[in-house]
Amino acid sequence: MDKNEILAILKDWNDWEGQQDIGTIRSVYLNRLEAFITGSNQIITITGPRRAGKSYLMRQMARRLSDKGVRRENILFVNFEDPRFTPLDTKLLAQVYDVYKGFLSPTDTPYIFLDEIQEVAGWEKWVRTMHELKKAKIIVSGSNAHLLSRELGTLLTGRHLDLTVFPLSFAEYLLFNKVEVKSAFDIVGKEAEIDGLLYKYIEAGSFPEVALSVKKTEVLLNYFDDLLTKDLLKRFRVRKTPAMKALIKYYLSNASNLVTFTSAGKSLQVHTNTIERFSGYFEDVYLIFLLKRFSYKVKEQEKSPRKIYAIDTGLCNSLGFRFSENIGRLAENIVFLALKRKQILDPQVELFYWKDTQHREVDFVIKHGLKVTSMIQVCWNIRDEKTKARELRSLHKGMKDLNITDAAIITDATEGEEKLNGYTVKMVPLRKWLLAEESAIGL
Ligand SMILES: Nc1ncnc2c1ncn2[C@@H]1O[C@H](COP(=O)(O)OP(=O)(O)O)[C@@H](O)[C@H]1O
Ligand SMILES: [Mg+2]
Repeated sequence: MDKNEILAILKDWNDWEGQQDIGTIRSVYLNRLEAFITGSNQIITITGPRRAGKSYLMRQMARRLSDKGVRRENILFVNFEDPRFTPLDTKLLAQVYDVYKGFLSPTDTPYIFLDEIQEVAGWEKWVRTMHELKKAKIIVSGSNAHLLSRELGTLLTGRHLDLTVFPLSFAEYLLFNKVEVKSAFDIVGKEAEIDGLLYKYIEAGSFPEVALSVKKTEVLLNYFDDLLTKDLLKRFRVRKTPAMKALIKYYLSNASNLVTFTSAGKSLQVHTNTIERFSGYFEDVYLIFLLKRFSYKVKEQEKSPRKIYAIDTGLCNSLGFRFSENIGRLAENIVFLALKRKQILDPQVELFYWKDTQHREVDFVIKHGLKVTSMIQVCWNIRDEKTKARELRSLHKGMKDLNITDAAIITDATEGEEKLNGYTVKMVPLRKWLLAEESAIGL
């Protein structure tokens, strides 16, 4: 590529004149990223679903660096999704670096942000060399859980720290909607406003742009198209487009249900192997999560059906999920995502569902290290005495089985506590649980 062409692209994406929009600061991720950058000499990889806010986070980091005294010309930001870059290979990386050095003359080891790096074949080699020679501090991002390729990933083994970025937590969602919650007092004082936003959060989901947009469905349908064409069909070279589309719809409309590859295959008339392969791709791009059943026996854990959760309840709704009829299941999906956020900030956390031979179920078992720390049941409407008794029976059985004495039921509004034979079950409204959970991880 021509030098001037490259420079023109770089000027569009860099903050050399301090003109880039960096949006609303997401402190949880920004602080963590800053700690990684200043506290280690490792390469940093940022992954997460498409449109979760990775590029914005990188820009926020670049701005923070310059606010803290790093000269702007010592920071380089390259967006490999820019269609003007071609061909995407390691030669281009070297060229970009040369152009940057030639025109900006960095005065110190530069910080180099490489956005959507998986587009560049063989990038691991170039990044490793730059890192080995201490020529730059490198931060890369991509929309795939397996950002490092199978062939070259080992080049970076032990040399990188990973950060996963998720769409907005409920506390962040409130912040994006300009509602500040700083204390328990605020939760009470702003209850109506918070509740109204909670319903929107469940209905339209948590992608940052959706939170800020008035045309929510349009944005979501666009995301879906991008995800399907760019992240799935193109990257994995899939030809069975209708089967893949049908499976995504099947999974999104079954959010919070038990699924098996066999039953999905039967219902869609698609071979089980294809279902399994596609499901792996969906997990890679963070579209779905398959939750395993808790068991001390690995074999039983592996062969039990999975519970399926979607990355975003807004996506479920925009693809035809009936919101009003299924709010309980969507709320369960929201709880799952909150637990998942906790897990990405603390890798010691493990999540399961629990089920016994009499088909009693508990939605979530949370393990920390080797220890089961809590169990959670999501029951949107627990005002009916029969429902309440059934949910409590399952929880008690599960608690007894896993040897814990405290658990929670998450509800739409019901609050309280049930004590029985040494077991304590707290009933907590979703909004309150979400905000308490998130403040525990530093929001
Ligand atoms: N922190 C933020 N503040 C404001 N808007 C944001 C923020 N993060 C993301 N967005 C919105 O979401 C869109 C997608 O974010 P982006 O960072 O491009 O996602 P990714 O790089 O993960 O695909 C942006 O174009 C912007 O509209
Ligand atoms: Mg991006």
